[in-house]
Amino acid sequence: MNFNGLFNLENKVVFITGGGRGIGQSMATGFMECGANVSICDQNTEGVNETKSILKEKFGDKKKFEGLEVDVRNQNEIRNAIQITENNIGPIDIAINCAGIANANPAETLSKDQWQNMFDINLSGLFYSCQEEAKAMITRKKGSIINIASMSGSIVNRGLKQVHYNSSKAGVIHLTKSLAMEWVDYGIRVNSISPGYTKTPMNLRPEMVDQVKIFENETPMKRMASPDEIVGPAIFLATDASSFCTGIDLVVDGGFVCW
Ligand SMILES: NC(=O)c1ccc[n+]([C@@H]2O[C@H](COP(=O)([O-])OP(=O)(O)OC[C@H]3O[C@@H](n4cnc5c(N)ncnc54)[C@H](O)[C@@H]3O)[C@@H](O)[C@H]2O)c1
Repeated sequence: MNFNGLFNLENKVVFITGGGRGIGQSMATGFMECGANVSICDQNTEGVNETKSILKEKFGDKKKFEGLEVDVRNQNEIRNAIQITENNIGPIDIAINCAGIANANPAETLSKDQWQNMFDINLSGLFYSCQEEAKAMITRKKGSIINIASMSGSIVNRGLKQVHYNSSKAGVIHLTKSLAMEWVDYGIRVNSISPGYTKTPMNLRPEMVDQVKIFENETPMKRMASPDEIVGPAIFLATDASSFCTGIDLVVDGGFVCW
């Protein structure tokens, strides 16, 4: 075994959903800095453009990258984005599914639309993404898919009334295990990462100021994660360093779920 190359990402092709900001944007920058070529997609045009200009500024023409507008609720759009990525950059080796939403509402008054929209994006959209990514990888009999779940998929956040979010993330964790088993013979590994509270635009809305202080206080490390701190665990799951890991949920939470 070449231990030296365990984390090698040189010229790997990485497809990232929800890459327009937050954790997905950090993934794009982090993986490119480690030698990969990256294709990001997001439903938000401004986000796509912002990530593209960050990557252009940082890497110029040294690496290949793509930024595409995709709503993960639309499977055709995901399929097209993967096709464009493979034509322009190369066959995808790694996929990181970050696209997701969060909001809160007491269960007894949660509307059917709010429930449905959460599941359409966080669970169905993620499944469509996995399906299209796997179809591309199956022919080559290799690949690593990483789904961004949440610690809210295994614990209930004290004070946050978000039964729809929590259940969608529990779904992501079990969907990941199920797909890992379905695709194990194709050489595709499927794992999830469950971040704890992370400093992204999702948590930095003005109405969250007091909430963020509670998040920091309740986390044993007494702070939230920077989105960049989710990149290292993803590099582990993306590379040969985790060649015997499939179907796992890697919790990255500053110790939160220990308490
Ligand atoms: N921030 C946290 O504390 C935290 C904690 C645990 C898990 N997560 C999860 O991490 C992932 C990334 O979250 P983040 O904190 O970076 O949030 P974010 O809101 O900063 O970024 C999410 C991105 O997903 C995109 N997106 C939303 N709906 C989409 C759709 N239908 N199609 C395509 N793109 C879409 C958004 O436009 C946005 O760019 C999410 O799945 C989130 O649930 C976040």
